[in-house]
Amino acid sequence: MRVLFFLAPLLGSATAENGLAGWLRHASLSCSHQCQSKLPANIIALNATESSPVYTAGIELQQGLKGIYGSHVDISHDKCQTPSAAVIVGTLEQYRKTCGSLKDVPDLDGDGFWIDTKDTVVHILGSNEKGALYGAFEYLSMLAQGNFSEVAYATNPVAPIRWVNEWDNMDGSIERGYGGPSIFFKDGAIVEDLTRVKQYARLLASIRVNAVVVNNVNANATLLTTENLEGLGRIADVFRPYGVQVGVSLNYASPETFGGLDTFDPLDASVIKWWTNITDQIYEHVPDLAGYLVKANSEGQPGPLTYNRTLAEGANLFANALQPHGGIVMFRAFVYDQLNETNWTADRAKAAVEFFKELDGKFDENVVVQIKYGPIDFQVREPVSPLFANLFNTSTAIELQVTQEYLGQQSHLVYLPPLWKTILDFDLRIDHKASLTRDVYSGKHFNRKLGGSAAVVNVGTNTTWLGSHLAMSNLYAYGRLAWDPTDDPKGMLQDWIRLTFGFDEKVLDAITQMSMESWPAYENYSGNLGIQTLTDILYTHYGPNPASQDDNGWGQWTRADRTSIGMDRTVSNGTGYSGQYPDEIAAMYEDIDTTPDNLLLWFHHVNYTHQLHSGKTVIQHFYDAHYSGAETAQYLLAQWQSLKGKIDEERYEHVVRRLEYQAGHSIIWRDAINDFYHNLSGIPDQFKRVGRHPWRIEAENMSLDGYRPYTVSPFETASGSVAIVTTSNETVGTATTNIKLPSGTYDLAVNYYDLYGGKSQWGVYVNDKKVGEWQGNNEDVFSHTPSIYLDGHSATRLKFRDVKVKKGDTLKIIGKPDGVEPAPLDYVALLPQGIVD
Ligand SMILES: *[C@@H]1O[C@H](CO)[C@@H](O)[C@H](O)[C@H]1NC(C)=O
Ligand SMILES: *[C@@H]1O[C@H](CO)[C@@H](O)[C@H](O)[C@H]1NC(C)=O
Ligand SMILES: *[C@@H]1O[C@H](CO)[C@@H](O)[C@H](O)[C@H]1NC(C)=O
Ligand SMILES: *[C@@H]1O[C@H](CO)[C@@H](O)[C@H](O)[C@H]1NC(C)=O
Ligand SMILES: *[C@@H]1O[C@H](CO)[C@@H](O)[C@H](O)[C@H]1NC(C)=O
Ligand SMILES: *[C@@H]1O[C@H](CO)[C@@H](O)[C@H](O)[C@H]1NC(C)=O
Ligand SMILES: *[C@@H]1O[C@H](CO)[C@@H](O)[C@H](O)[C@H]1NC(C)=O
Ligand SMILES: *[C@@H]1O[C@H](CO)[C@@H](O)[C@H](O)[C@H]1NC(C)=O
Ligand SMILES: *[C@@H]1O[C@H](CO)[C@@H](O)[C@H](O)[C@H]1NC(C)=O
Ligand SMILES: *[C@@H]1O[C@H](CO)[C@@H](O)[C@H](O)[C@H]1NC(C)=O
Ligand SMILES: *[C@@H]1O[C@H](CO)[C@@H](O)[C@H](O)[C@H]1NC(C)=O
Ligand SMILES: *[C@@H]1O[C@H](CO)[C@@H](O)[C@H](O)[C@H]1NC(C)=O
Repeated sequence: MRVLFFLAPLLGSATAENGLAGWLRHASLSCSHQCQSKLPANIIALNATESSPVYTAGIELQQGLKGIYGSHVDISHDKCQTPSAAVIVGTLEQYRKTCGSLKDVPDLDGDGFWIDTKDTVVHILGSNEKGALYGAFEYLSMLAQGNFSEVAYATNPVAPIRWVNEWDNMDGSIERGYGGPSIFFKDGAIVEDLTRVKQYARLLASIRVNAVVVNNVNANATLLTTENLEGLGRIADVFRPYGVQVGVSLNYASPETFGGLDTFDPLDASVIKWWTNITDQIYEHVPDLAGYLVKANSEGQPGPLTYNRTLAEGANLFANALQPHGGIVMFRAFVYDQLNETNWTADRAKAAVEFFKELDGKFDENVVVQIKYGPIDFQVREPVSPLFANLFNTSTAIELQVTQEYLGQQSHLVYLPPLWKTILDFDLRIDHKASLTRDVYSGKHFNRKLGGSAAVVNVGTNTTWLGSHLAMSNLYAYGRLAWDPTDDPKGMLQDWIRLTFGFDEKVLDAITQMSMESWPAYENYSGNLGIQTLTDILYTHYGPNPASQDDNGWGQWTRADRTSIGMDRTVSNGTGYSGQYPDEIAAMYEDIDTTPDNLLLWFHHVNYTHQLHSGKTVIQHFYDAHYSGAETAQYLLAQWQSLKGKIDEERYEHVVRRLEYQAGHSIIWRDAINDFYHNLSGIPDQFKRVGRHPWRIEAENMSLDGYRPYTVSPFETASGSVAIVTTSNETVGTATTNIKLPSGTYDLAVNYYDLYGGKSQWGVYVNDKKVGEWQGNNEDVFSHTPSIYLDGHSATRLKFRDVKVKKGDTLKIIGKPDGVEPAPLDYVALLPQGIVD
């Protein structure tokens, strides 16, 4: 039972909340007398140096207690004795020195801490200063959740590396960033005002992240100018009091492109000297730099292979330069070549093992190979990267993506930990022994000191950080899992909900359910059975475009033809990828009978009529899953709407807009994928839904004036493959039809395209009475990458509720184009209650 001492917390509070505080709102508990009794009278932070994490812990405790209790509590630094109840925060060593010994404190390691609230004096003691700060945040998190239980426990991280990677460019843009421009860079330099960096530092420290790589892995060497290194020093100064170290991404060719040498060969003496010098320079500005992150010989990036040097030689170049300073190299395993699909055995998924396996044991001690969770690229479902089971003598880290690059780009709600857990908890059966992925990358399994996790986190200047309030649960949970991968996705989520939205039971239940259903739903309507996210891999990575996977060199192939689909990755007849796993796992995936349905098409090429373990055929599973996923997305919106009045207006409305959009876009996904495979295979849907839309009025079938039909590509992203556009960007278009449905009240859905580069306006009228209007301004409202075409990214569906019509009424849409956006319209649907078409 939660111990609740307080009166009803402020609900639907009048103050608008913009998300800036994230889960560190430390909102008032409107504390009763009893709860006030838990308020410490003093804060003792055992270090008086302002840049120290322990000093920061004192400040954070003071601010947090002020928020939660509304009371001011004094901080002192030097003495231990207090006349009344206090909270003491410091390292074990500082405590022993100032306060004497303490019994019952178990061993702490890494950045671990001990917290004891059983006494009148609350003890928060870290193995180091970072640990002490983490403990202070933990204590505040308990209080902010109304949890006053008396606890005494120690907690230690599973691994020393708990990093985030920002993909921020020097010009201030962010690769795969969906929350506004960079908080670090602008116009090629480090921004002057680092207020947001400090706020980010707090968030990271509170989830025990200990390093941040501030620039994009596709790195620009101009970070290394003297002026920018000074700026980097300023950034590090802001992060340091929060125990967060700074790291940087390097461009391999810098000695040549930036240093003016005529080579970047890692074995060339002038190159070695150059990097040593640069490294020394960086450490002058950032004495506690965490290290380097390197993307080499990957997707066009330069690297050691250019000089026929191994990737290990390439990594060790930096390892040597960093070693005297104590820094580490995170070397990405994301190395692969372009391939030719006509070759049945070519397979990008094999690349990492092919490049790295033979290098095992050749990396220096301070090199960590950073491996994406799956062998391709952050797909909606992948098997665990087999590289984890092929490096015995190399430290590794797992790379996750909080950034929802292939997973709805923060315009769709997708709570990621259930996906991550399929990887972290997977038993690789190395040498026929239990070997969970999480024990491999943490270093535990192979008894290695270094190891851990890195997540791509593209926070931006928007007050929502990630572009969506609900997406913040992914960042929060990432930190929790980096510390303890056995943590429960639902439990972490609920802590986050209480901290972010308060603890009304209805709020807790609804957001829990929505979040837990969101990844399965997204998998259902994007790409299932292990076929990958069927998005446009050649453009925005956002909306549907299954054909883009094939017939190119990127190797994210589906090999779909008229009768069959899937990658044959068996050893017996396919690419041999399954053989990269240890025997037991290889055998499981080799055999179609023991391959789980959810990865069937990852490992096997089968006919659409192949029967799954579930009993369904592959094609019917596709159809059903896409209907089911889109249906869940409608329900996500309804669940959120049931919370009106229980959440502040600003965040409520922000989320409503996104969930309405997601509800519509999930239908666009559903129809696109189903139409695509229906068209390709010619196999009808057993339930006759696919391709049959009785409630729709296709725009191209209306009477058009100033509008003309337009054939959309890819075809499956328009209903009937045709939409309408205005005849010029100066012409107002009108589309008219007579309503043939029985008189009644309907929901009116419109499907249109919202292009980047224009803000068209549309109005919908029944007998000249306006019943709805909208503007093509998605690019200002949502976070995903916009498109300049009519396609699955720009396709948008809106709904106007409870529109009364009579049989024979005239339905009219007037579209006013703007810029390059010709007021495109796909269809209108009049939907009776409960029908989704
Ligand atoms: C209170 O917090 C402690 C420490 O995190 C936790 O073990 C306990 O389960 C929490 N109690 C409740 C009721 O959530
Ligand atoms: C206090 O913090 C500073 C800065 O982090 C550190 O150098 C110093 O050693 C700390 N003092 C104690 C007594 O731990
Ligand atoms: C690197 O940054 C500089 C300065 O901002 C810019 O001029 C240049 O285009 C960038 N290079 C790349 C490859 O992005
Ligand atoms: C070391 O780097 C600094 C700053 O980039 C540069 O000014 C200096 O000339 C370099 N020294 C050598 C020996 O390359
Ligand atoms: C690359 O190096 C390998 C091994 O060192 C050698 O066998 C091969 O001939 C070299 N290739 C080129 C193009 O230099
Ligand atoms: C792929 O291989 C086929 C058959 O060998 C060849 O015709 C085609 O040109 C190749 N495509 C590319 C992009 O290399
Ligand atoms: C096909 O791919 C395999 C595996 O990558 C490779 O060994 C083989 O040489 C390729 N065949 C052709 C004809 O390119
Ligand atoms: C790992 O390294 C150790 C010591 O360097 C060596 O004895 C062992 O053979 C190596 N194992 C593998 C699998 O390379
Ligand atoms: C075996 O591979 C070939 C391509 O080399 C493919 O056409 C065939 O369908 C595969 N057979 C089976 C049983 O999967
Ligand atoms: C798959 O379909 C093809 C074409 O209809 C057929 O020839 C083949 O026998 C089927 N394979 C299986 C395993 O059913
Ligand atoms: C980010 O913030 C800017 C300025 O407040 C706003 O115009 C934009 O719509 C926001 N973008 C997102 C994705 O929330
Ligand atoms: C129409 O397009 C032209 C050329 O792109 C542009 O100059 C003009 O401003 C556009 N007109 C409107 C009304 O957006």
